[in-house]
Amino acid sequence: MVDNTWELDIEFIGSGGDGVAHKYDGEVVYVPRAMGGEKVICQLEHGKVKIKEIINPSSDRRNAPCPYFGKCGGCSLQHLDEGYYRQWKEQLFKDTLSKKNITADVVEPMFFIGENTRRRVSLSYVINTKDKRGFLGFCEEKSNNVVSINDCLLLTSGLRGFLPELKEMLPLLIVEERVNPKLKNKKKVKQPRNFSYIKTGSIVINEADNGMDILIEASYEPDVNIRQDLTSFAYEHKISRISWQLPSWRKPEIVIELEKPYVDFGGIKAYLSPASFLQPSKEGEQKICAEILDFLDDGDKRILDLYCGLGSFSFPLLDGGKRIVHGVDYADNMTANLQKSANTQIVNNISVETRNLYENPLEPDEMKDFDVIVFDPPRSGSLAQIEKIAEATVKASRFPKKIIGISCSPTTFARDAAVLVEAGYKISKILPIDQFIYSTHMELVAEFVWNKE
Ligand SMILES: C[S@@+](CC[C@H](N)C(=O)[O-])C[C@H]1O[C@@H](n2cnc3c(N)ncnc32)[C@H](O)[C@@H]1O
Repeated sequence: MVDNTWELDIEFIGSGGDGVAHKYDGEVVYVPRAMGGEKVICQLEHGKVKIKEIINPSSDRRNAPCPYFGKCGGCSLQHLDEGYYRQWKEQLFKDTLSKKNITADVVEPMFFIGENTRRRVSLSYVINTKDKRGFLGFCEEKSNNVVSINDCLLLTSGLRGFLPELKEMLPLLIVEERVNPKLKNKKKVKQPRNFSYIKTGSIVINEADNGMDILIEASYEPDVNIRQDLTSFAYEHKISRISWQLPSWRKPEIVIELEKPYVDFGGIKAYLSPASFLQPSKEGEQKICAEILDFLDDGDKRILDLYCGLGSFSFPLLDGGKRIVHGVDYADNMTANLQKSANTQIVNNISVETRNLYENPLEPDEMKDFDVIVFDPPRSGSLAQIEKIAEATVKASRFPKKIIGISCSPTTFARDAAVLVEAGYKISKILPIDQFIYSTHMELVAEFVWNKE
């Protein structure tokens, strides 16, 4: 070792995506973008471990297809060749579940979604108000520094093609007269260099079926000039909607809406709220829907869709009016839009409820009229509601015999699944989906059937 430089033998890629090695003194070191079997020279720079040289690269290594890989913190696994990446990710999924006592025999082969599919993106922007030059990008690995990017191969071709236009929008986000006037007048306060000249924020884009739905998140309000410029920009570039959000505002404000943005869910136009949740890719959403529909049979008429969002599963589940669906979500903007989508397109058989399922889960009696429960919670899972389902199996006169869980966290899923298994359900199938490619995140769809009686 010289200073903070080590020669390391990488043992394997850990669950966080970094190569794992032991230093001469036994301390574990995590080396980003290193692979099992490689010998590398690393250095500690500003608290981060960086590879200086790969002495013997793995035969499963490839040149990352993205020129920003290594600088941009968005992807951590582009250096694995495709076959190795798939095998590694599938194994990571199985290992995560088996640590929680879910065995591999119910796990289907992973469904892989390729590049050019991500229809939702959150980019940071940085603008120098002096020369009106700005850039868009993602944060560096483990840092708030923004790496400028002009392209991202994960995004749909529509979004990739839109990035240069979006860059043109950046100078319009400057509030000229708000250049830190208070500090200017206070002689005693030393103004930090460039403080007033840099404006930052983020831009969230959902690619709707009828154009881009853009939300600008900033710490300053849009003045009249910004509003006018963004309106012209929306007309010129056929943007469906541009909204603005300040941290202190409860809800985003719509600056200009040329058309209400929508996406197609099972033949119904589902209207979006600004930056509303969508499955990251249409391909992923359709695969999840196909799995859910495949699990149901003719007798499954009444479906409870918990954490329904805008109705990505609720509408397809109706199956042209063959079923009745009740959707529940705590985001009132999403439930309102779901209801509006149903009302305006005269979709019957669907009802919606705004409810916090963590604080106020459905009681056993409220679930007794349903044949199937679909639940798709956030990463933190759905323990309170799952415990109520378990309670229903003991207390209620009737309870759903089929349950489908969708999750982007195998760990919290396994915790919740254990409660259902203990209550008497059996996991009949788990389908892993690689919706978050080149990262360690994974999606899954799991089917539970009642296993007692
Ligand atoms: C992973 S998203 C799924 C949305 C929808 N199923 C879809 O595929 O588009 C999770 C959803 O849970 C909702 N949610 C988060 N916490 C909640 C809570 N405590 N109670 C009810 N809904 C919640 C969010 O608003 C979001 O719509």
